Amino acid sequence: MFELDDDQILEMTMETNFWTWSAQKSVKPIPVKRAEGVYFWDVKGKRYLDFNSMTMCVNIGHGNQKVIQAMCDQARELTYAGPGMATKPRAVLGRLLAEIVPGDLNRFLYTLGGADANENAIKLARAYTGRQKILTRYRSYHGSTAGAIALTGDPRRVAWEPNVMPGVVHFLDPYQYRSTFHRTIPTISEEELATDYLNHLEEIINYERPSTIAAVMIEPVTGTNGIIIPPKGYIQGLRKLCDSYGILLIADEVMTGFGRTGKWFAMQHWNVEPDIMTMAKGLTSAYAPLGAVAMRPEIAAHFDEKVFQSGLTFNGHPVSLAAAIANIEVMRDEKIVEHAAQMGEQLTDNLAELKSRHASIGDVRSIGLFGAIELVRDRETREPMAPFNGKSPEMTQLRERLLEKGLYLYTHWNILLIIPPLIINEKELNDGLSIIDQALEITDKAAVT
Ligand SMILES: Cc1ncc(COP(=O)(O)O)c(C=O)c1O
Repeated sequence: MFELDDDQILEMTMETNFWTWSAQKSVKPIPVKRAEGVYFWDVKGKRYLDFNSMTMCVNIGHGNQKVIQAMCDQARELTYAGPGMATKPRAVLGRLLAEIVPGDLNRFLYTLGGADANENAIKLARAYTGRQKILTRYRSYHGSTAGAIALTGDPRRVAWEPNVMPGVVHFLDPYQYRSTFHRTIPTISEEELATDYLNHLEEIINYERPSTIAAVMIEPVTGTNGIIIPPKGYIQGLRKLCDSYGILLIADEVMTGFGRTGKWFAMQHWNVEPDIMTMAKGLTSAYAPLGAVAMRPEIAAHFDEKVFQSGLTFNGHPVSLAAAIANIEVMRDEKIVEHAAQMGEQLTDNLAELKSRHASIGDVRSIGLFGAIELVRDRETREPMAPFNGKSPEMTQLRERLLEKGLYLYTHWNILLIIPPLIINEKELNDGLSIIDQALEITDKAAVT
């Protein structure tokens, strides 16, 4: 290993590194030294409880020796092989994935992460259907590459317009707490909400002409933009709608996959099989970069004689595939998905309890270990604690307080996301929530009581 004093890490990194999603002068990176389980430590030895699984990706927790060993073994045996070569990890991973993904998705194209998985999903859908348009939702995030940022509905797309991939049309998420159509009927049932949002989508499909639409792509549970859980009947209705117009359904399970919602994949909550499914993050629990596109056999068969025009030098990198294999084995052997479902129930109860005691909590939502606390200034008007796509002094102060107290999590505008490693135990979850509980005095002071 190269030698470097801990206290030089930050300074030297700052000298040469160009940061993503940041104005360069505003970044304040945590110099991380090591990580284990649900914790990581900075170079000064300060411990952080990781309530964001780093980037919503370290699903099995930090420092798992079985996965690390599998990667070392693979690196020793065969570090790299070309994209057109058959290897042991390619042979094994495909079979493992076919056992855990929904329905008969049984062909897998490997990528390096989530964005390029979505790029390839779009190519497949367009080539298979001979149609151009892709419909995605306004609150979605699908990645930052040129095509994936066009698919993304949230404001990160707008920064690059008009130079984004053409052919994407956005529609609204069935976001019950802030439903545009139901401000005057906040008590609407989930089923009716689902129907109204499916009708909204169908109207758009007809305006755009069904014969021009290749696919609808969704995050089954909207992630970064607020853990928006689809109302009852929505996903099943979406499947029917797509089928009736010959449109493919693509599930972006980059964040929701691999146990995050208490099932291997979120679509399994509604027993709905997408035509194409993308994954990354939890696929290796971030032990190595990897994404994948799963597809139905008939989509793969479309390319039996026709060339699929796409590729990546690191497609099917053996070390990444070995990490994915070991990660899935660990999840299976240690029943991590079942554990996430069980801890998820506790999270739901704890969030409801927190809401009952804090004036600044407008709504809480969770499914598995995928949770959100939505903060407001006024429960009656639902005025957010920070504006859409904006900041507020209270949200900044809250985030700083949580970090100071050793809790690392992701705040998105007025929302706190709770996305810990799936191995978290009851005490660790309670520890994190009690830090949040105390810090909420900051936003409570700014809320109408
Ligand atoms: C739902 C979803 N899709 C796609 C992506 C992009 O993945 P990556 O950052 O690996 O390109 C993300 C990343 O956060 C995501 O949450």
